[in-house]
Amino acid sequence: MNLIQRSLWDRKSVRAFQERLIDAQDKRAILLSALQAPSAGNQLLYTILDITDEALKARLADLCDHQPFIARAPMVLIFVADCQRWQDAYEIAGCDPRPPMAGDLMLAVVDAAVAAQNTVVCAHSLGIGSCYIGDILENCEQVRELLDLPLYAMPAVMVVYGHPTDQQRLREKPPRFDPRFIVQENAYRRLSPEEHREMYLERERAMGREHTDYDASVQAFYRRKYEAAFSREMSRSVQAYLEGFYPDDDGRF
Ligand SMILES: Cc1cc2nc3c(=O)[nH]c(=O)nc-3n(C[C@H](O)[C@H](O)[C@H](O)COP(=O)(O)O)c2cc1C
Repeated sequence: MNLIQRSLWDRKSVRAFQERLIDAQDKRAILLSALQAPSAGNQLLYTILDITDEALKARLADLCDHQPFIARAPMVLIFVADCQRWQDAYEIAGCDPRPPMAGDLMLAVVDAAVAAQNTVVCAHSLGIGSCYIGDILENCEQVRELLDLPLYAMPAVMVVYGHPTDQQRLREKPPRFDPRFIVQENAYRRLSPEEHREMYLERERAMGREHTDYDASVQAFYRRKYEAAFSREMSRSVQAYLEGFYPDDDGRF
């Protein structure tokens, strides 16, 4: 395994940080690594918000499903899927542009996520841990107001960074599903019920859980993640962002 591969395998999410600032040079390296990511049409369809205001961090920690470690992270970036900047550029150039649509937003979200992942990899190479916060998709109205987001800008992901505590450094990375369930050749095939059980229970065994009851465990996960209030709020909030893309239209994505 070469150094880059090793680094991809070693990285894991970090949710507890040393009380230590990230030095300016490292921060700059992390930020600049984002811009080196591939980008559709090299448009850089995102804006990165560097959240340095402690009160704002605390508010975001609360709005993102009450995750206090967000407020304790020395560095917090929000990757905004930004269809506004090009909309403005087109108007400035006299294009009379159509409003951005679903495809534009999806492309911008992918751009933002790819850029975010570059920062995660770069941070890891500097000994700095990170964690994605998907809950930035929640509470559209408050987040929009807090961050002054214009109509065609949607926060795609937030990432928090900091030097990991020893406990976090030594913690085992959660095992993945076996690739034979994840990688398919040429065309999509739905997994059989047996394969579903095998996929899940194999990973449970890799975590030292020899006797997991598949039904009970997946039902508990369903309640904790899929049926949870945060998940419903996320869908409501994303729908609210999307509706902003059709101010004069009853069409939905
Ligand atoms: C899009 C996305 C959203 C996530 N949101 C959260 C989050 O809100 N809170 C959190 O603690 N971890 C979050 N994570 C981290 C995942 O829980 C973590 O990546 C996963 O459990 C695998 O563990 P690992 O990153 O340590 O390998 C998120 C990860 C991704 C990619």
